[in-house]
Amino acid sequence: MARGRDFLGSETAILCGAMSWVSERHLVSAISNAGAFGVIACGAMTPDLLDAEIAATRALTSKPFGVNLITMHPLLTELIAICAAHGVSHVVLAGGIPPKGSIEALKEAGAKVICIPPTLALAKKYLRSGADALVIEGMEAGGHIGPVSTSVLAQEILPVLGDEHLIFVAGGIGRGEAIAGYLEMGACGVQLGTRFACATESIAHPNFKKAFFRASAREAVASVQVDPRLPVIPVRALKNKGTEAFTAKQLEVARALDEDGIAMSEAQLQIEHYWAGALRRAVIDGDVENGSLMAGQSVGMVTMEEPAAEIVAALMGESEAALGRR
Ligand SMILES: Cc1cc2nc3c(=O)[nH]c(=O)nc-3n(C[C@H](O)[C@H](O)[C@H](O)COP(=O)(O)O)c2cc1C
Repeated sequence: MARGRDFLGSETAILCGAMSWVSERHLVSAISNAGAFGVIACGAMTPDLLDAEIAATRALTSKPFGVNLITMHPLLTELIAICAAHGVSHVVLAGGIPPKGSIEALKEAGAKVICIPPTLALAKKYLRSGADALVIEGMEAGGHIGPVSTSVLAQEILPVLGDEHLIFVAGGIGRGEAIAGYLEMGACGVQLGTRFACATESIAHPNFKKAFFRASAREAVASVQVDPRLPVIPVRALKNKGTEAFTAKQLEVARALDEDGIAMSEAQLQIEHYWAGALRRAVIDGDVENGSLMAGQSVGMVTMEEPAAEIVAALMGESEAALGRR
């Protein structure tokens, strides 16, 4: 973990993965103040909103934190410029292959770049393109997911790249024993989302948090693709009416592809806007019936509201105890 700590500049190499609407100034600063590493979720934010969020987070912590940018955001270049203007130290590029020039622009601005490859081949490609570190994220995770489990990705990627490169493991981590396991396999740290979503400092609506406390692992299900032509990225969330509404949304977008002749990139953007809106409805408005309750399978291990510092301390304690027993 020392390698991960040095890279992040934090006391522990535990990242709180960016969660749209949840990872804003309060949770991000609380995580960083607790000695872990907070990441602002830019999501669908405009450059002005990101500008304000970075400044507000800086006002709440003097510790390092990062910014997560979604590569398909139409204003990615402007968002990168905002990160550069603030001298953001770490930027995570999520949601697909980073467009040409994006990694270079961030590095020119002095930022360390973290990418999220879904396969070993793409992991190598991102490192060749200049990524400073990688997060490998399995399908147990909450939010947008790939098809492969964390345990398999870790076995495929850590023995090959873990010695020479900085690899953080994400997806399905709820306790420190799992962290110890991935460190032993060659990871330099981990990233958790679900376990931190209901921290005391998280602004998520009380209804959203209650839904997490009640849920078990089996209720955090991946969305299904209804039209083979529309390659929607699956999203893991707690089952509710919103899950069914997503099926209807896909049919609507597929119809627009056929009848209105919209481009595939526009179709995918519409799907992503749908998710951003649905997540906002659950996280901010507390509509846990129709909104999206994005959650990973580790949701069963989230049973109460706890300060970020206590969650970090518990994870580190469990991890150290596990390594000690070895
Ligand atoms: C509510 C929620 C929203 C998320 N939003 C984003 C996001 O905007 N960008 C991103 O890269 N990952 C997002 N994620 C994934 C997290 O950053 C993190 O990688 C994931 O939660 C780790 O797996 P875990 O949930 O099993 O801990 C989200 C996850 C959740 C639970």
